[in-house]
Formats: sequence, structure tokens, C-alpha cells
Amino acid sequence: MTLLGRELILGVGGGISAYKSADLLRRLQDVGFAVTVIPTRASLNFVGPATWEALSGRPVNQNLWENVHEVPHIKSARQANLIVIAPATADLIAKISGGIADDLLTNVVSAASCPIVLVPAMHPEMWLSAANQENIAKLRSRGILVIEPDEGRMTGDDFGVGRYPEVSRIISEVSSFAEIKSDLLGKKVLITAGGTREAIDPVRFIGNHSSGKQGYAIAIAARNRGAQVVLISANSSLQDPPGVEVIKVSSASQMQESLAKEFTDSQILVMAAAVADARPLSLSQEKIKKGNLENIELQLNPDLLKELGAIRGKNQVLVAFAAETESIGDATIQAARTKMLNKGADLIFLNDVSNGAIFGEDKTSGILIDNNGKSIECKLQGKDTLADLLLDSALDKLGIS
Ligand code: CTP
Repeated sequence: MTLLGRELILGVGGGISAYKSADLLRRLQDVGFAVTVIPTRASLNFVGPATWEALSGRPVNQNLWENVHEVPHIKSARQANLIVIAPATADLIAKISGGIADDLLTNVVSAASCPIVLVPAMHPEMWLSAANQENIAKLRSRGILVIEPDEGRMTGDDFGVGRYPEVSRIISEVSSFAEIKSDLLGKKVLITAGGTREAIDPVRFIGNHSSGKQGYAIAIAARNRGAQVVLISANSSLQDPPGVEVIKVSSASQMQESLAKEFTDSQILVMAAAVADARPLSLSQEKIKKGNLENIELQLNPDLLKELGAIRGKNQVLVAFAAETESIGDATIQAARTKMLNKGADLIFLNDVSNGAIFGEDKTSGILIDNNGKSIECKLQGKDTLADLLLDSALDKLGIS
């Protein structure tokens, strides 16, 4: 199962090794997870909520009876893409295996449909006890990943199996369990989406039918692969994807301003937005009477991609889109190739949008053209599938795939 998002709940049980979960939290953030901590009441004897709030950058709630109107356990359970409980005490393991839900964490676990990982840590006698081993077997049979504890020194003079595992082993087991692709980790991906609107007067604008679905799908795919994602969104009604920085703009000149701020430190730019080619020469403060509409003078907008293509560095990859109403053939492919080279882009996706196809839909088709002369034909497929293909090709261009 590949995770569709990176919202993670870190449950912390009441064991002395709870402090090690502070390091685990950091490492989970390093592989791209946005972490919300839910400590059990017992665990607060070892590590207080201030530590979890400071490290996660999020408020910490451990009480089922706070903010009841928001039904927090169901809300958290639905938002989570993965739950990791570390340390998982014998008591927590028994509760989860028996379906007991008597605090916020165990309620969230029993309501969750996402994958769950338990990281047990306890004294060897407790780990090896018949009840605990039976509970572990039951949890594993339900598809929960229970990571084997390490062997070593315990608190006091004890030695044996039951130690909190090395954090690097936890990260690697969690990553392979959840099939996390982290090939964009440490990369900034800048994406434009939607369609710009150029105001004519207080009620009218020049615009287009772009819904933003393709750009949003690329933003979500990049986030899922560990990237830092900035999405410049023009007039899309789609919801902000969690874990993505969304900058809302309306006109081409606002998009240009945001691109100027965000482009330099980005490794990949995907210009999925439909930028209006022209805007009125002047914006009328009053609604223009219909008799005067024929006199509106237009001026061309700057070509935002071309401007960035002219100042780009070698370590940046630029991806363009071209929406054409003529059916795709040699001439349109050649025109798209010329458009890509002219704008200084590395890749261009040529969309066939004739007869209203593609705009606002969840599926897309076209040809991905590369500045090396290669091209890939993409039959009708989900915009999320195309998003991953574009990111694969962009990484290939960066020399990282
Ligand atoms: N683009 C841009 N700035 C513009 C127009 C387009 O950055 N003013 C970008 C789009 O986001 C897209 C690519 O350029 O990634 C191609 O857009 P398209 O509208 O097909 O290109 P145009 O240069 O406007 O060409 P045409 O004359 O065919 O409309």
C-alpha cells in the first residue's frame, strides 16, 4: 500500500523511553511527514506536552474531553495517513488488541482505517509474557506492523529483549511498510495551477476554463514524494492540500510576482496554470456600458515561463503545458516542441483539449515531449498518474532518478 499523504499521528505511550520518540519525531519529519503527537496521560510523567508542541509545531491534545464539538478522535483518525505508536507499552498493546478505547489515542486507533505501526519498548519479562506475545500475534494478524524491540541494557541493571529500537531501523521499517517514496526529499517543487483572470471592470474579467485539477494533482504527488511544495493557485475552487504551501493569486501579474519570490531556490517548476495571454490596457473603475465593450483595448501579458526560462540555472528543471484544440499530430507536436525550446523549458505536456475535453476532468491524455527529442504518448489516464510521470521525468532531467 502506498501512502496517499503524509499526515502522521505519533502516539506516545507511558514508558521511560518516551524521550527517544522526540528524535523519532524529527526523523519522521525529515522523511516528509507532518506529525501530530497524541501522548497518553501516563507518558506525560516522562515527557511533557511542551516538548511535543515545540518539536511538532502543532498543538498537543491528549484528552478526549477537550474540543468535544469537533469530535477530535474521528477527525484525527480520518486525517491520518499513518499512525506510529512509540513507545507502545504492554498496557497500550493489550488495549489496542482488545479494541479498548478509553482515551484520545486509543479512540483514534480504533476509529482509524490507515496503516498502524507499533514500536514496543518494555522490560524483557513483560515483552515475553504470554499475554503480551498473544496480543502481539493478534495485532500482526490484523496487518498492524509491530517492530521487534532491540536487545540490550534496560533501565536499572537489567539486560534483554525489549529496548526501544534504533530510530534509523524504525524509519527504515516504517518506510518499507508504508512504501514511502522519498525521491523528492530536500527538493523544492514550485507549481502553478488554475487560470488567471484579468479584470476588465469591477464585474468582468478575461479568464479561461482551467480548474486547477492537474496542478493540484502534481502538488499532491510531489508532497507525497517528500518535496517541499509551493503551489501558486489562480482562481481554483479546489481545497488546499495539507502539507502544501498555497499562494492564492488572481491575475497574471500577481502570479508573476509570486513566481519571482519562489523560483530561485526551486529545483522543479511546473507551469500547469493557464495564463491569460492578454489583459485590458486599463482597468475601468466603473462597470463598462455594453455599448463600449467593443472598444476595450488589450495588451499582451508577459510570458511568465519564458521570463524564468531566461534566468534559470542548470540545476533547475522547467515543465510547461500546452493545451491545443487541434488534434495531436506531427504539426502540433512540432509546434509544442518549438514552444518548449522558445520558453527555455525542458519538458512540455501537449494536451488535446478539443471539444471541452480535459478541462475540469479527473483524467487527461496527450504527449509528454522532452527537449532531447524523446516523447511519451499518454493515453487517457488519471491526472494523478500523469503527475507522477511528470515528476519522474523532471527528476530524470535533474539527474537524480
Ligand atoms: N505561459 C506563461 N505565460 C503566459 C502564457 C503561457 O507562463 N503569458 C505558460 C503556460 O503556463 C504553459 C506554457 O506557457 O506552461 C504554454 O502555454 P500556452 O498558452 O500554450 O502558450 P502561449 O505562449 O500562450 O502560446 P499560444 O500562442 O499557442 O497561446
